[in-house]
Amino acid sequence: MNELDFNGKQVLVVGGSSGIGNGIAQAFRARGAHVAVCGTRASAADYSPDEGSHLEGLDYFRLDVSNAQAIEALQPPFEKLDVLVLAQGAVIYRRGEFEMDGFRKVVEVNLMSLMACATKFQAMLSASKGSLIIVSSTAAYHSTMGNPAYNASKTGAVGLTRTLGEAWAGNGIRVNGIAPGLVDTKMTKATTSNPKRLEGALERIPLKRLGTPADMAGAALFLASPLSSYIIGQTIVVDGGLIL
Ligand SMILES: NC(=O)c1ccc[n+]([C@@H]2O[C@H](COP(=O)([O-])OP(=O)(O)OC[C@H]3O[C@@H](n4cnc5c(N)ncnc54)[C@H](OP(=O)(O)O)[C@@H]3O)[C@@H](O)[C@H]2O)c1
Repeated sequence: MNELDFNGKQVLVVGGSSGIGNGIAQAFRARGAHVAVCGTRASAADYSPDEGSHLEGLDYFRLDVSNAQAIEALQPPFEKLDVLVLAQGAVIYRRGEFEMDGFRKVVEVNLMSLMACATKFQAMLSASKGSLIIVSSTAAYHSTMGNPAYNASKTGAVGLTRTLGEAWAGNGIRVNGIAPGLVDTKMTKATTSNPKRLEGALERIPLKRLGTPADMAGAALFLASPLSSYIIGQTIVVDGGLIL
């Protein structure tokens, strides 16, 4: 038996239009799954590989998760769902998260939408005895001085993962999470495209390299597979040792 064979499985990656979510989506597709992804732009043609978006072979639809009604009203383009990955995320730099407007926006995308998406698909996941995987961040485990909303929302995501893990175990849904360290995506360009900042960041990572979406996908495949059948409510840190 190949536990990492996802043939016949339906996967949805919210935030699968780019970066980490996109890498996770392509990894499930490469192992036979039918994969839908969503992001904020009108169509797949609005994304480019230069930004970390590889949409070939994925079903793209638009969903702005900062709009709770849009999540509720969504008519998904599939009738069953085996794996739901919530990889949506936003950050505001230049102290924007110290303004209530910015704080609310980030919490809406990074935390409120997790609960809205999870409850939207709870019945489908229960019917398939499926998996829910929440992408938080190692930011949940230390202060991130310039980003209070990012920090609070990611800390909340780890707590939500634990609590839904316990609450939905009886429904047959396994809820777990991934906390990435520093991964080269469009979200982290402010750090990775600045040679000095990049050097400083690499120095703090024991593996001496940035994480890749494929590194994150390894953990996601494991958490969605029977290899992790007795794991619930856990968030796996995937950070090359950054927070050790
Ligand atoms: N990169 C890192 O170092 C790092 C570290 C720890 C945790 N993370 C987390 O990993 C996840 C993926 O981030 P990433 O680094 O891959 O960045 P990314 O390439 O910018 O991806 C973010 C994803 O979230 C989607 N998104 C943002 N706002 C949304 C909204 N209002 N409605 C629907 N979708 C929305 C984006 O859609 P569009 O493509 O349309 O913008 C995109 O698909 C996030 O939760 C992030 O916080 C990243």
